[in-house]
Amino acid sequence: MTNIAIFASGNGSNAVNIVKSFNSGSRIHVALCLTDREDAPVIAKMKEMGIETEYYPRNVWRENPDTILDILQRHDIKLIVLAGFLCFVSDRIVEAYEGRILNIHPSLLPAYGGKGMHGAKVHQAVIAAGETKSGATVHVVTDKIDMGPIIMQKEVPVLPDDTPETLESRVHEAEYELYPEAIVKALMSLTEGDTHRAEAEETPATENSKPEPPAIPQSIDDAWAETLGVANNVPPVPSTPVQQPQQPQQTSIGQSSCYNQQTMYQQTMYSGQTHTGSTEPMPSTWLVWSIVTTILCCFIPGIVAIIYSSKVSSKYFAGDIEGAKRASRNAEIWIIVSFVLGVISNTLYIPLSIAGLF
Ligand code: GRF
Repeated sequence: MTNIAIFASGNGSNAVNIVKSFNSGSRIHVALCLTDREDAPVIAKMKEMGIETEYYPRNVWRENPDTILDILQRHDIKLIVLAGFLCFVSDRIVEAYEGRILNIHPSLLPAYGGKGMHGAKVHQAVIAAGETKSGATVHVVTDKIDMGPIIMQKEVPVLPDDTPETLESRVHEAEYELYPEAIVKALMSLTEGDTHRAEAEETPATENSKPEPPAIPQSIDDAWAETLGVANNVPPVPSTPVQQPQQPQQTSIGQSSCYNQQTMYQQTMYSGQTHTGSTEPMPSTWLVWSIVTTILCCFIPGIVAIIYSSKVSSKYFAGDIEGAKRASRNAEIWIIVSFVLGVISNTLYIPLSIAGLF
């Protein structure tokens, strides 16, 4: 079981959605909710759902982050999820949970993010700028507001008659789909990173030993299903890579498909493994095969063809017209043989290697 904590200051609709998504029957468990607002509606909602919920005034968050870290450690929290948390998360907590704190922001970051950009202000600014699309972003929290690596984004249209309220509610709906999936992906990425680190620690490095490349992950659907502890019978959805708006300083985490949504998941944070294309080197057996078959199938028949064609003129000038014709025909045949054998032998490598002979 992987325990996660939610930090929230407001209504808590995302918090409720996250608890509903995970706390019945998955391996991810919301074990704790912390807030900085004594009267936040999220408190009652979480308690009603059986989630331990604690309020700490802002001075504790600011001046005594160890109190927060204590309760997180007592609950064995692996990931912190900010859902409308308006208090500053102290550097001490960010360092202790480096790469393990997520936030959701109601715009397509890096646009409309940063200090002071939250709630209705974001949607007002999007509408005022005449944008035709907006959305939500889940990113890793760093010491720079809204600037951490992006995990996933989901777009929504901005309609001509939208008000900040109508746009906010459309973005909220997108958030409910986006956040649970982003949490799963972040946890998968962190688990992969932990496994590779543990393996690296177990295997003492020798002078010639190179680190093993990270294992190629299962399909996202399977891995996700496994993380959630459910069967995966959903047919794979083709992914459409999207152009990521330029991020000033960070890399995003990896790349995958997301049902009906655009994702930015291009690089595994800890393993450094990219999934954007094959980097397989050409197998050396192919090179050997190609050289040998080219010599046997092209050069040798080619030389025979040259010998025959050299005979054409000598026979012709010797008055042996029939002999010259025969030599010319033979030269043609050997040229064709050379070409056909060359093509066949080189392409034969593919079925043979599929059959496992290389
Ligand atoms: C969400 O729009 C989220 O993007 C932002 O705060 C809002 C929280 O809403 N960070 P709720 O409290 O989950 O309803």
